[in-house]
Amino acid sequence: MLSYRHAFHAGNHADVLKHFVQLQLHEYMNQKDTAYTYIDTHSGAGVYALDSGYASKNAEYETGIAPLWERLDLPKPLADYVNLVKGLNPSGKMRYYPGSPYVADKAMREQDRLRLFELHPADAKILADNFRKVAEHAAAQGVVASGRGKRVLVDRGDGFHALKTLLPPPSRRALVLIDPPYEDKQDYRKVRDAVEEALGRFPTGTYAIWYPVLQRMESRSFSDKLKRLHGKDWLNVSLTVTTPGPDGFGLHTSGMFIVNPPYTLEPILRQVMPYLVEVLGKDEGATFVIESGVPLTGSAAARPGAGGAVRVPVGNARRASPLSGTGSLRLPGQAPAGTPGSAGAAGPLGRAANTSGRPTAKTSGRPTAPGSGRPSGPKPPGSRRP
Ligand SMILES: C[S@@+](CC[C@H](N)C(=O)[O-])C[C@H]1O[C@@H](n2cnc3c(N)ncnc32)[C@H](O)[C@@H]1O
Repeated sequence: MLSYRHAFHAGNHADVLKHFVQLQLHEYMNQKDTAYTYIDTHSGAGVYALDSGYASKNAEYETGIAPLWERLDLPKPLADYVNLVKGLNPSGKMRYYPGSPYVADKAMREQDRLRLFELHPADAKILADNFRKVAEHAAAQGVVASGRGKRVLVDRGDGFHALKTLLPPPSRRALVLIDPPYEDKQDYRKVRDAVEEALGRFPTGTYAIWYPVLQRMESRSFSDKLKRLHGKDWLNVSLTVTTPGPDGFGLHTSGMFIVNPPYTLEPILRQVMPYLVEVLGKDEGATFVIESGVPLTGSAAARPGAGGAVRVPVGNARRASPLSGTGSLRLPGQAPAGTPGSAGAAGPLGRAANTSGRPTAKTSGRPTAPGSGRPSGPKPPGSRRP
């Protein structure tokens, strides 16, 4: 199913969470000189115009990048991300928004490699054209990629399939972003299978998976399934910007699940997520959850799963970590909800801190609309994440 066009959603709150986390992952990877490969299984078009075409239809960027644009009090890691977006807008006016391939291109070094996959013919062409121009510009500046092979390869192909062919990478360092549309509920299973197989081929890679939290069952149980999948450390962060509507429409919550996360990420999230809730939150339902886990050890952990990957029943919750926790937006005049992001925080608007490594608040209490996560009103063609 190829009706999905990411341009409709460019720069929304889910993109902010995804690309902010992505940038942190690159910054960690960049700390070692050794080259790494970035694999973007679902790349999209690479760059989106916000002031025209699809993106201007619903102006979803107003839920995400727009409220951050003029802020002078951004926490440093978030400022790095906003500055990256601003780099694409030298006039200072917010006109373009970078997709994950562009975030990667800006964050990565000459010795690193980008492997980008996009199945939609129109977006694959835009992506390839964009990178051709970038390469021409770099060549005109005399920049020559170091190392073997082309720095950037764009392929109009199935990213799930391609992932198998690229692991393990030559330098034995890789960051993988998996960000499908989830319009087709099969995407949940495909992501799980792809990560399981990828871990079997390359257990030390860092895998970042974006996901929507929707009413559909596959979505609600998705992050829990990912926790059971592997024998690796994981980190899960979600951002809710508004109370789910009674019709169940609208993407109110999205998450990033990271397998083999850098140790630097959780403290950064603890610093930034309360700020994002405060600035992007629309009502008292706005909140975040950060949770992490480590694999079980012993005989259970050694039980082989499908695809040769070691499989563990459940991540052994690292609940004791003072960095795990939840947070929520506190509106003026409302009672404190506990310290956002601190373990044990709970209150009228907060969630009890997670004692099992999983969010204590479940999405299952929300009204159901058959599998839809889109905003109310007519569904635009290619609308994301049903
Ligand atoms: C959510 S968008 C990607 C956004 C992009 N990662 C970003 O952050 O800017 C998902 C993209 O996956 C593409 N797609 C769908 N199925 C695919 C597949 N099996 N392989 C590669 N791309 C696919 C869609 O055409 C769409 O452009």
